[in-house]
Amino acid sequence: MGRVRLGLLSIFHIIIYLNEKIIDQEEQVALRVGAARKSFGDVDVLRGIDLKILAGERVALMGPSGSGKSTLLNCICGIEPLDAGTIQVGGEDLSGLKRGELEKLRRENMGYVFQSFHLLPTLNAFENVEFAAQLVGMSKEQRSKRVTDLFEQVGLSHRMDHLPNALSGGERQRVAIARALVHHPRLVLADEPTGSLDTESGSQVLELLKSLSAELKVALLLVTHDHESTRICDRMITMKDGSLLAG
Ligand SMILES: Nc1ncnc2c1ncn2[C@@H]1O[C@H](COP(=O)(O)OP(=O)(O)OP(=O)(O)O)[C@@H](O)[C@H]1O
Ligand SMILES: [Mg+2]
Repeated sequence: MGRVRLGLLSIFHIIIYLNEKIIDQEEQVALRVGAARKSFGDVDVLRGIDLKILAGERVALMGPSGSGKSTLLNCICGIEPLDAGTIQVGGEDLSGLKRGELEKLRRENMGYVFQSFHLLPTLNAFENVEFAAQLVGMSKEQRSKRVTDLFEQVGLSHRMDHLPNALSGGERQRVAIARALVHHPRLVLADEPTGSLDTESGSQVLELLKSLSAELKVALLLVTHDHESTRICDRMITMKDGSLLAG
């Protein structure tokens, strides 16, 4: 009797999984987070997060410091494992993947932009972006064209041979955006990308994120403390004490 029940339960879960996968393909869901929970020691940081972002949709994530925003991003990109719940990127469930498969999914489907740029200091701007393209196996010719095109799109064709420390903050962030997009990801995760920029540079970076995500149909999850940043997004969600208030 127990076995029959276990079997029925497994079939039930498989049906739900397949159903979600079909819906995700039909609706073109870029990201789906279901009942996600994460604790550090006895601190419950994510307390059951449900979130769906469609292809090309831009979503702002706001909330007080310490509410769990960066932790959610780290779990979505697979840096931190969830304690419970599911994360699917383009219909692919992260929890079912082995380490190498997870790496591949991250490399091929996601891009990141951080507050502090994270450019490699010994590579020039072009090489920083090209390196990311190399990691996903683009040929030398493909890389050269793709990186040159992107530098044009971010307005930095004249700065491609500069090392990061010879670029302004806004320029560095534009290089980081080119790097995040070089492999045609479905989803870009941006954690306070304008946090260390002045108003003018921050505004340029936001406009760039908006136009590129619209043009390339890339979904964007943008963590920000600044209401001004939300204007480039289709909707805003707020996190408080590890829960989402609106979605
Ligand atoms: N690796 C870790 N080990 C232990 N606690 C952690 C770890 N990472 C985050 N935390 C805790 O989890 C909580 C949420 O942190 P998180 O960085 O996600 O907040 P945040 O919303 O991004 O805040 P901020 O707006 O200041 O960047 C904090 O209380 C933090 O101290
Ligand atoms: Mg944070």
